[in-house]
Amino acid sequence: MHEEIKIAGCCNQATTVERTSSSVDEARENRIDPTDGEQIKQLVKERYGHAATQGTGCGCGTDSNEPEFSFVGTEYEGQEGYVAEADLGLGCGVPTELADIKPGDTVLDLGSGAGIDAFIARNETGEEGEVIGVDFTPEMIQKATENATKLGFDNVRFLEGDIENLPIDDESVDVIISNCVLNLVPRKKKAFSQMYRVLKTGGHFTVSDIVVEGDLPDPLRESAALYAGCVSGASEREDYLQLLREAGFDEVSVVREHTINIADEILLEMATEQEVAVFRESGGLSSVTVTGFRRD
Ligand SMILES: C[S@@+](CC[C@H](N)C(=O)[O-])C[C@H]1O[C@@H](n2cnc3c(N)ncnc32)[C@H](O)[C@@H]1O
Repeated sequence: MHEEIKIAGCCNQATTVERTSSSVDEARENRIDPTDGEQIKQLVKERYGHAATQGTGCGCGTDSNEPEFSFVGTEYEGQEGYVAEADLGLGCGVPTELADIKPGDTVLDLGSGAGIDAFIARNETGEEGEVIGVDFTPEMIQKATENATKLGFDNVRFLEGDIENLPIDDESVDVIISNCVLNLVPRKKKAFSQMYRVLKTGGHFTVSDIVVEGDLPDPLRESAALYAGCVSGASEREDYLQLLREAGFDEVSVVREHTINIADEILLEMATEQEVAVFRESGGLSSVTVTGFRRD
């Protein structure tokens, strides 16, 4: 299955961005060091803390001074278990649709945000299962917990913790889901080995995420706004799949994908026309939903 989503601005609506030299200079100054994992995690926590407290946002990067864009479109329409208050418009797929969650399963949602995918998963595990969301942004944990309390769910809980060091027992989970999160984790090898550690033998993961199809030019790779916006931290597709295999997973495969086409007016906030053209020619970005199994 292959679709194309064109991202023109906030919540997929075309926006006119007035570009002045000072706004471009500001965006260019707002750089990250892609090798500094701790700086990156601090940035991500701040941006998503802001997203949680501003209520329903639109787009992965949600600082009001920066360009915004959304990957998820209207894919949640008609999903059983959907909870509008828990959907901040921050996803890039619907992993639960392909996650084969069964009644009674223990499901772990990595980077659970306000809880949207955890609540959809809970619809499938039923009363006899359990859903655990982990997120390192305290404001997200608070919002998700409030949502669970309002819904009266006592088998959905949200834990504050880092995916690079999950607060979850070894071999205790049947299914891992995640939606537009792993691109934000600087040490993906560590994250993938944690996923393997907590899955039971026979368990599996289904995660939606962003991958790069070719080269991401340095100015885009170093943009704080694009990092928080789920772009700059994205791995090259084959590297991502290979890292999952190296973590021990079997039958790693892409089960759904969309092309992500970020509008020029957003990219030109951070990079030159030539750099943007190089990025486009190299293949751009995709949203992928990936599965894999722990067999031993
Ligand atoms: C793009 S949002 C997606 C939220 C949610 N999955 C959804 O679809 O609405 C990314 C979330 O991942 C969390 N996150 C990013 N890196 C993390 C890490 N290393 N450990 C735990 N949570 C992380 C952020 O705090 C944020 O809530």
